[in-house]
Amino acid sequence: MKKIKVLISETEIKNKINKIARQINKDFKNKNLVIVSILSGSVIFCSDIIRKLKIDFEIDFIRVSSYKGTKSSGKIKFLYDTVSDVNGKDVLLIEDICDTGKTLSYIKNLFLKKKVNSIKSCVLIDKKLKKHKDIKIDYFGFTINNEFVVGYGLDYNGKYRGLPYIGVI
Ligand code: IMP
Ligand code: MG
Repeated sequence: MKKIKVLISETEIKNKINKIARQINKDFKNKNLVIVSILSGSVIFCSDIIRKLKIDFEIDFIRVSSYKGTKSSGKIKFLYDTVSDVNGKDVLLIEDICDTGKTLSYIKNLFLKKKVNSIKSCVLIDKKLKKHKDIKIDYFGFTINNEFVVGYGLDYNGKYRGLPYIGVI
């Protein structure tokens, strides 16, 4: 394994998860919440968030891919869709990181076509980059500079997802 420099520590992540979960508990009380984890990167973030929720929710998964190595290919490959009936429900997308915002806006549009009651997004890391105009992140953890990070679900060519912190190679 290559040497990794810690950028966001395990403790910092833990504190942020608690803060985000408190807000979700408040905002989705008495709603029909469906949490949609965007695979694969968000599984760890999502599993930590949902274990802090004190409200009812369903969970589902969607999978897309756009990254090759450390660069976005710019093209989104749709791999598989959710199976729940989301019609009239309040969908919360959970994403690991937002770079160009293409992935998030693509998935948001898919759900708008499914006639959801509301669609919101929760993103652990937001990269400081000029995003698509239409992309709004409702809950986010950290803002970082435009660098490639790994750990806590994030990979470099499939590796490093298991690190408990976020770091730079
Ligand atoms: P976007 O569509 O350009 O916003 O890219 C978002 C997707 O690219 C995320 O879901 C990640 O899977 C991947 N990605 C973007 N930046 C990084 C990074 O720094 N490390 C690991 N994966 C990343
Ligand atoms: Mg991802």
